[in-house]
Amino acid sequence: MNKPLRKSDRQHTIKLFAGEVFQLRYVRPDDGPRLVEMFSHASAQDIHFRLLGSAHDFAGQMAEKFTHLDPETEVAIVATTLPDSGPEEIFGIVHLAQAHPDSDTAEYDIMVRSDFKHHGLGYRLMTEILQCARRRHLNVVTGLISADNFAMLQMAHELGFLSQRTEDNDVEVRLDFAEFDARLEAGLAAG
Ligand SMILES: CC(C)(COP(=O)(O)OP(=O)(O)OC[C@H]1O[C@@H](n2cnc3c(N)ncnc32)[C@H](O)[C@@H]1OP(=O)(O)O)[C@@H](O)C(=O)NCCC(=O)NCCS
Repeated sequence: MNKPLRKSDRQHTIKLFAGEVFQLRYVRPDDGPRLVEMFSHASAQDIHFRLLGSAHDFAGQMAEKFTHLDPETEVAIVATTLPDSGPEEIFGIVHLAQAHPDSDTAEYDIMVRSDFKHHGLGYRLMTEILQCARRRHLNVVTGLISADNFAMLQMAHELGFLSQRTEDNDVEVRLDFAEFDARLEAGLAAG
């Protein structure tokens, strides 16, 4: 995924429906303490939803993971407070990873601070990472969701992902851009 970036890809400001403003930018190696702070706010249920399991030192592990991404196959976008509003804080992160550099498919994962859910940030981060995937000429984005994670399942459905139960009784969601665009066009034509 190590493609040249336009300036606008690197950093921009978004406004959520209640007016909260965040900066979206790529994660940086110096984000460790900010990531630990964000992930240490995670509820037990959100940790379960994110990992489909549990982890010792969840915050430390996540911070380590996201500050050591493989630029060939991974990209992650964080939503941060604006620089002029005090020490920068991270409120959400979305990550995309290919199994290998030539793959046309990448898997996403996402987390919003547990005390800042239902403000529209997760949806906004998802649209951002999907645009990023399209810009990088990926064809398919997938995700693995716990069957009782209704917020993520609903959001994935609204974004056009198709879903399928796995053998472990989780849900694999899949968005094939060409198939989605064809569906959209057919729907528009029918409407
Ligand atoms: C799943 C998760 C990322 C959702 O984040 P969030 O910021 O709470 O989600 P949002 O507020 O953006 O969106 C969810 C809601 O808004 C709707 N929504 C938000 N913006 C929207 C838009 N522009 N258009 C349409 N619908 C929108 C969604 O359908 C949903 O409705 P609800 O909140 O009324 O139930 C968050 O709950 C989380 O971090 N969970 C733990 C980790 C996890 O589950 N990750 C997924 C597996 S990797």
